[in-house]
Amino acid sequence: MKILITGCHGLLGQRLVKFAPPGCTIVATDVHADHQFTSPEIYRPCDLTDRDAVKELIDTVAPDNIINTAAFTNVDAAEEQRDLCWLVNVIAMENLVQAARRVHAGIYHLSTDYIFNGQNGPYRENDTPNPLGFYGQSKLAAEMVLKGSPLNFTIARTMVLFGHSVNKRPDFVGWLISKLRNGDPVHIVTDQIGNTTLNDDLARALWHLVRTSFHGVIHLAGREIISRFDFAHKVARIFNLDPSLINPISTADFKQRAPRPLNSGLVVDKAIYTLGLELSDAEGGLRKYKAVVENESV
Ligand SMILES: NC(=O)c1ccc[n+]([C@@H]2O[C@H](COP(=O)([O-])OP(=O)(O)OC[C@H]3O[C@@H](n4cnc5c(N)ncnc54)[C@H](OP(=O)(O)O)[C@@H]3O)[C@@H](O)[C@H]2O)c1
Repeated sequence: MKILITGCHGLLGQRLVKFAPPGCTIVATDVHADHQFTSPEIYRPCDLTDRDAVKELIDTVAPDNIINTAAFTNVDAAEEQRDLCWLVNVIAMENLVQAARRVHAGIYHLSTDYIFNGQNGPYRENDTPNPLGFYGQSKLAAEMVLKGSPLNFTIARTMVLFGHSVNKRPDFVGWLISKLRNGDPVHIVTDQIGNTTLNDDLARALWHLVRTSFHGVIHLAGREIISRFDFAHKVARIFNLDPSLINPISTADFKQRAPRPLNSGLVVDKAIYTLGLELSDAEGGLRKYKAVVENESV
């Protein structure tokens, strides 16, 4: 099976490339001209917002499936850079769909709990979306593009992704570790709750979906629902850092630029009970993350 992985330099994309199962031929793409840490033999740079470039890439590669992790993921910046966010999250999706139709490829696409408003989470796969911010609106629009297409598709929604990666904007856990190591006090919100997701777990789960030709909408995250503040305390404990530097704050007082779904979370029963996919809870994920950081040089 030939698989095209988009966003291969990202927090998830890097690990998807790393855990590609034997027997799969991988082609990896991202927007940067330089292959960075991806092996040059499998890397094909492409700006997914460029329709002709996407068509050429997919005509040439002719993948059986595309795993689309590329996205504009900076939730706060999305409020100000709306045109770019829409281009990357929605127009790129349209470009992928059009090109995939020509070669009859399926698409496995990543989405988010931010499509929900956080008034009554955790959410099931068929609950009604109502995004609060522009990032969530763009991710929902991308879902609609895919759902309206004739392709075989999967939408895998996840949330609070963390884990090892190289040369990336740090995830929440990486950011917190560096702050606490420097002895910097931090304020962490107590009223944003939901699941957490280790990137390696998610990558392996996605490969399971591809191998078993799963199609449809699925929530993939750790089962446990936890506040960001409690998660931060687990980070401090597991990485032997000073928890007294972690100060509680409410979302109202924290004043992030984009609105956040507060009482969020994804119900993951479908993944666990119909597919046998159980991802790590917060503590288990952090322990695996720590082991990877200690053992992996890249
Ligand atoms: N991170 C989370 O907490 C989280 C939570 C829920 C859902 N998700 C979803 O999960 C997926 C993967 O997230 P992630 O955290 O791995 O994202 P990420 O680390 O931001 O990686 C996304 C990759 O896409 C690339 N990209 C941006 N614009 C592009 C373009 N025009 N053409 C081609 N590639 C482009 C980015 O390059 P640059 O770095 O140069 O921009 C980056 O390498 C996304 O769909 C995201 O919405 C993430």
